Amino acid sequence: MSSSIVNTIHSTLPVDDDHPYRTGAWRPNHREWDADDLVVEGEIPTDLNGVYLRNTENPIHPSIGMYHPFDGDGMLHQISFANGKASYRNRFVRTDGMQMEQDAGEPLWTGLYDLAQNSKREDGWGARGQMKDSSSTDVIVHNGIALTSFWQCGDVYQMDPMTLADMGKADWVKQFPSPTGVSAHTKLDEATGELLIFGYSKSEPFMHYGVVDAQGKLVHAIDVPLPGPRLPHDMAFSENYAILNDLPLFWDPAMIELGAHVPRFYRDIPTRFAVVPRRGNTEDIKWFESDPTYVLHWINAYEEGDWLILDGFFQHDPMPAKREGTSKPLSLYRSVDLDRLQTRPHRWRFNLVTGETKEESLSDRVMEFGMINPQIAGKNYRYTYNMTGKPGWFLFDGIVKQDVLTGTEERYFFGEGVFGSETPFAPRTGATAEDDGYLLTFTTDMNRDCSECLIFDATRLTDGPIARVRLPERISSGTHSCWTPAEALASRQ
Ligand SMILES: [Fe+2]
Repeated sequence: MSSSIVNTIHSTLPVDDDHPYRTGAWRPNHREWDADDLVVEGEIPTDLNGVYLRNTENPIHPSIGMYHPFDGDGMLHQISFANGKASYRNRFVRTDGMQMEQDAGEPLWTGLYDLAQNSKREDGWGARGQMKDSSSTDVIVHNGIALTSFWQCGDVYQMDPMTLADMGKADWVKQFPSPTGVSAHTKLDEATGELLIFGYSKSEPFMHYGVVDAQGKLVHAIDVPLPGPRLPHDMAFSENYAILNDLPLFWDPAMIELGAHVPRFYRDIPTRFAVVPRRGNTEDIKWFESDPTYVLHWINAYEEGDWLILDGFFQHDPMPAKREGTSKPLSLYRSVDLDRLQTRPHRWRFNLVTGETKEESLSDRVMEFGMINPQIAGKNYRYTYNMTGKPGWFLFDGIVKQDVLTGTEERYFFGEGVFGSETPFAPRTGATAEDDGYLLTFTTDMNRDCSECLIFDATRLTDGPIARVRLPERISSGTHSCWTPAEALASRQ
């Protein structure tokens, strides 16, 4: 391996930090590396060519007040494969907020768990307002450019997916009418090259939906009127429809009046779905209702005759109560513990002619962060690749391949003290079967104090990784990621 540190960012986190989401597997990285010819145990398949990118909540400073893992600055970790060899890069997402805090040498904004008015700056980003847009939530490659985004809406930052060079902010966000910008989980349809986007805010109509074409131009944007401010996190699409959601977990309206943003789950308010033709207008939206829940992530959607089928993770307890005897940190962060939220795969069916809704559970197993073969997004599909969580923690301890046709599941457990990332599917060059390809994940290995990229044959998950590629240092645990094949990297227009 040849490696070099290209930058070290000065951090003001305490040396004796004891925050559970800034230490251990969540210990952030402050060095930016370039490393080539990485050491490999096993063999990197020669038909795996492209780049795996992962965004990470990686704090430079503590927040003012309480720190939540969603407050961290954005850092991209990237591994690229060509001809059986691998290279690694990592870079901070150089957001406006990060630069302002770098200049000030201290944190300027409160995070999710503190009052907006305690921020040192009066401006800021996010649906709440007065937040730092860390662009630390999501990453996707569109038109050959890596795009990062923030869960509470903001700018979309662009980086070269190979070099991770900063390419500034996406211009099309300025044309999008949402006052807060764009939410994380911009959705790529590989079949059309379109990017489907949404944004939400505290002002009417409370949500917007839009389409960015394959060349990176905003070509469509509409209002999605909601009854009040909501907290959607993700959207879904089929070949012809976009699906937005109005979930009954949102800020208590009375508390907003008092200047506090306190999420509550309203058990008597149904879940609502806005189904709209992908280039349709506000008046074309059809609304469907189902059992109350919160859904962080959708898996896929597709059409079958008059029915639109939507799969996602139903939270059976979206707002878990405090448990007697649980330690304070584990109790404080129970809303990111999959085990407490009871997130299980679920299927909704919407009849586009009669307006009927049906729903059913797809598994008894608690899991989330479902990935599919990206070539069939929006179409009928069979396999999902989901993460299981370490109970009590926001850490992934295993991967489950689920066959949604037969209901069979197989699981790979990383082992005690080893945690993975969201695990995308990389189709094998020339593949004809849906699961003919590879699964990739970055690990944080607390036993060996190192990180690896694990590569699995998706048809033989339980056999374990076919290759382990060593990174230059242990990286923080992280979540959303994507795979982009080499051909798509070369297609920038
Ligand atoms: Fe997410």
